Amino acid sequence: SRTAAVIPAAGRGVRLGPGAPKALRALGGTPMLIHAIRAMADSRAVSLVVVVAPPDGAAEVKTLLDAHALPDRTDFLVVPGGESRQESVKLGLDALPPGYDIVLVHDAARPLVPVDTVDAVVEAVRGGAPAVVPALPLADTVKQVEPAAPGEPEPVVATPDRSLLRAVQTPQGFDRDTLVRAHATVTGSVTDDASMVERLGLTVVTVPGHEEAFKVTRPLDLVLAEAVLARRRL
Ligand code: CTP
Ligand code: MG
Repeated sequence: SRTAAVIPAAGRGVRLGPGAPKALRALGGTPMLIHAIRAMADSRAVSLVVVVAPPDGAAEVKTLLDAHALPDRTDFLVVPGGESRQESVKLGLDALPPGYDIVLVHDAARPLVPVDTVDAVVEAVRGGAPAVVPALPLADTVKQVEPAAPGEPEPVVATPDRSLLRAVQTPQGFDRDTLVRAHATVTGSVTDDASMVERLGLTVVTVPGHEEAFKVTRPLDLVLAEAVLARRRL
């Protein structure tokens, strides 16, 4: 069985603050996207990486790929992305050639995911799971609140049992046909791909996630990412 990785990288990175699109921002002097691509290509299972570039940035991303050393055994495709992450992933899936029966979807914004996590996800899909997510227990207690007018306090309505909650990461791994069907049939906005498979009524399973697979979302995350990278380079 052959595995491809789709990397949604088309977001602006509004929460990170003004500057280049998030995936093109530097981490240790190299664009975050290049780190994310290497994280996928480093897995021996992955033989194709489809990069979903900012809508007007496909040419720039192709130039970047040529400028950075990437494994020879991996093929690369670049397609322009869409308005939402969901749409960007769909555009990446549409570009997938035949012959890949397992698909990973990995955020460019998670540049430091270790290869062991990638391999664990692929193994679980190969083992027969239609959808697999790397997951970690939560450190914080989580409250459900009721919406309130701006500036008004939000009343807490519930405290879900934290021991049953998980924060999920990427790469999420899928049986290709299942993910394509999910993207073709599920409507409404979602924040990850696995939730679309859940809506098909299929069971999504977890494998252990990794602290270093955190998402670079806000400026402090960039500080942590630089520190993790510096520690790796020791
Ligand atoms: N993404 C995408 N296409 C979009 C929006 C997001 O491909 N239209 C990608 C981002 O590039 C990122 C991943 O989805 O790799 C996770 O999204 P997120 O962390 O929210 O990134 P952004 O949407 O860029 O950030 P923000 O929400 O702060 O603007
Ligand atoms: Mg976003």
